[in-house]
Amino acid sequence: MSLVETPRFTPHAIEHPAEPLKPLKFLRTLVRNPLETWPRALFEEPVVWLGLAGRPVLFVMDPALVEEVLVARAGIFPKAPIIQRTIGAAVGTKSIFTAEGADWRWQRRASSPPFRHEKILGFVPAMTAAAEAAAARFEEMIAAGGAPATVDVSEAMMATTFDVIVETMLSGKGGFDTERFGAEITHYFDTVSWVAALTVLRLPSWLPYPGKRRARAGNRFLKAEMARVVAERRAHPGATPDLLDFMIQASDPETGRAMTDAELADNLLTFVVAGHETTALALTWALWLTANSSGVEERLMDEIATVAGDRPIDAASADRLVFTKQVIQEAMRLFPPAPLIPRIAAEDTVLGTETIKARTPVYVPVYAIHRHASLWTSPDSFDPDRFSAEASKGRPRGAYLPFGAGPRICIGASFAQIEAVVIFATILRKLRFTPVPGHRPKPNTRLTLRPEGGLPMTVARR
Ligand code: HEM
Repeated sequence: MSLVETPRFTPHAIEHPAEPLKPLKFLRTLVRNPLETWPRALFEEPVVWLGLAGRPVLFVMDPALVEEVLVARAGIFPKAPIIQRTIGAAVGTKSIFTAEGADWRWQRRASSPPFRHEKILGFVPAMTAAAEAAAARFEEMIAAGGAPATVDVSEAMMATTFDVIVETMLSGKGGFDTERFGAEITHYFDTVSWVAALTVLRLPSWLPYPGKRRARAGNRFLKAEMARVVAERRAHPGATPDLLDFMIQASDPETGRAMTDAELADNLLTFVVAGHETTALALTWALWLTANSSGVEERLMDEIATVAGDRPIDAASADRLVFTKQVIQEAMRLFPPAPLIPRIAAEDTVLGTETIKARTPVYVPVYAIHRHASLWTSPDSFDPDRFSAEASKGRPRGAYLPFGAGPRICIGASFAQIEAVVIFATILRKLRFTPVPGHRPKPNTRLTLRPEGGLPMTVARR
């Protein structure tokens, strides 16, 4: 049985309170790290009601009920206002991530062509090239220092997946300042828990909070960058259509209208941010988990050598890197890049044994589901064999949802999984990552699950 054979490592998980926090402590903790407000019950019970500022919120962990919320009765549980106030403030409330109903449907359809399977396979060379460039940057740092270098792997992975998204979805025509782009996203994300606190307290969004002005300026910069790319593309359409061309050409079948330049810019920003930050985090946590376990790295090296020899990772080999994919899947179980999926009840309804009033927030806490005591053996340990075909048999769909589920499931799920395998294998076969002694990364949720303050690791040539 794999769980016994695989050397296991229990990653640092944060302390969760035994009881729901008292209001003041709750708010202080929410602003610092929302994940630390989640009581233990979320990791043990099928559903939990929490009173957030006097308003009940239902957290749903039971996989069958999760499926009802996200899939079977998705129409009754649309996206929650907290999404509109956090993400909507950055990309508008009518973009692919934030819109609902017919408004959302045609944008989803318009954006789909680059995410078809054959199209994604055609992107693999760009993914390999970005990973090789990242490996070369690591090697330069090592050469410059004359010894293994200490690097922030989360920053390095962000730069790598950023290259991939621009190369594949924008035909390489972004001309972005990657460092500035990343910094401005961080400024924006840093303020998100303040926005969440205002939403919980039902306070207006115009109220001031720390970092607000910088976050706004950052968002203006990001939008202006996207508007520039849209204007350039209008002037010079691509010979082979990419995501932006598909969105420019699309029109709403009901009204016949096309996206305005502002809507195109909002959607582009959504894709660029959602399409690189999350995959970079999956890779970051996978590198750290692998470095902290014995036996996993050797199995990865064996698999990569057997499947690809000395050749670059191509689409066919990516498909055969089965254990590599399992490592990524297990990393996303322990550290799901999107740790919470917030919904709201559109009408009075019943879910399992729970009676829910209209406008009640209904949250799917992916991070807690992925470490739930009734769904996983030794939930906090790292064991990629959980995702072997054999061990995955019969697992309920709602027990593992790094990409969500139902109509709003991540449009980039297949793209991201192939990309993560290609980058992980390409980098790992050249370089060896080891933990920095004494450094314990702490997961912190803003919109995504980032390691607080970055994730320094030591990197050396193999
Ligand atoms: C490991 C990588 C990724 C993870 C964990 C992830 C996770 C998610 C999740 C959980 C959702 C659903 C949110 C909800 O239902 O409220 C989502 C939606 C979305 N993701 Fe991803 N994502 C990843 C990569 C990507 C990539 C590579 C792209 C694009 C290139 C992308 C673009 C989007 C978009 C546009 C949506 C909104 C879809 C809709 O509402 O129709 N994501 N993602």
